[in-house]
Amino acid sequence: MKISILTLFPEMFESVFNTSIIKRAIDNNLVDIECINIRDFTNDKHSHVDDTPFGGGKGMLIQCQPVLDALSIIRTKDSHVILMSPVGIKFNQKYARKFSNYKHLIIICGHYEGIDARVYKYVDELVSIGDYILTGGELGAMVISDAIIRLQTGVIEEESHQDESFENGLLEYPQYTKPQDYNGDLVPEVLLSGHHENIRKYRLKESLRLTKNNRPDLLIGRAFTDEELALLDEIENE
Ligand SMILES: C[S@@+](CC[C@H](N)C(=O)[O-])C[C@H]1O[C@@H](n2cnc3c(N)ncnc32)[C@H](O)[C@@H]1O
Repeated sequence: MKISILTLFPEMFESVFNTSIIKRAIDNNLVDIECINIRDFTNDKHSHVDDTPFGGGKGMLIQCQPVLDALSIIRTKDSHVILMSPVGIKFNQKYARKFSNYKHLIIICGHYEGIDARVYKYVDELVSIGDYILTGGELGAMVISDAIIRLQTGVIEEESHQDESFENGLLEYPQYTKPQDYNGDLVPEVLLSGHHENIRKYRLKESLRLTKNNRPDLLIGRAFTDEELALLDEIENE
């Protein structure tokens, strides 16, 4: 997979793409990432890329010309183009899965007060990373790139994804590592038992408990199994 990021601040991406699992994925050619500076495409003789909004208002908007010229050069028939925007669809693990299947994802980052809205009709979707306003789309592009790179085959072990939060509509159960006793705070006994079925059941119950307490919205419309219903009953009666 290839990810192209259109931004006015390519240097913001350096440490994120040069660290840990993402760096290893790039080094092992499991993903190809390029950060393209929108400013390199401006026709303005002073290299300006932004101007004041028509109709008045504070701040500066990135102009269509440099963004759309850059897009026309890097876009291919395999490209899926998203524009980072708080007014877009809200990114989640389902979108991470969807985007991870594209051969080429282009992410356009707004900055300042945003981007001239005429760019919208040249993109496939507007994508938000949450209900808050950031200074630019760069952090969102990093979030999206990270979430989809770790889903590429070979980046992390396939098994690691199975119980992860959101993968099966639930939050992940709490996990523990050594020491077994931290200042009297003990790891739950069942996890030390080696009894796989009991461990599976414990983890499912704790996943249900966490989801019910922290993200009840995830349970709406869920087709619960009989086992899940019984475990929820147990939680209710504790
Ligand atoms: C300050 S914001 C512009 C906000 C815009 N004036 C509004 O109220 O919707 C500048 C840029 O940051 C990015 N951005 C800010 N918040 C975002 C969010 N929650 N999700 C995705 N991108 C965001 C977008 O690319 C946006 O064009």
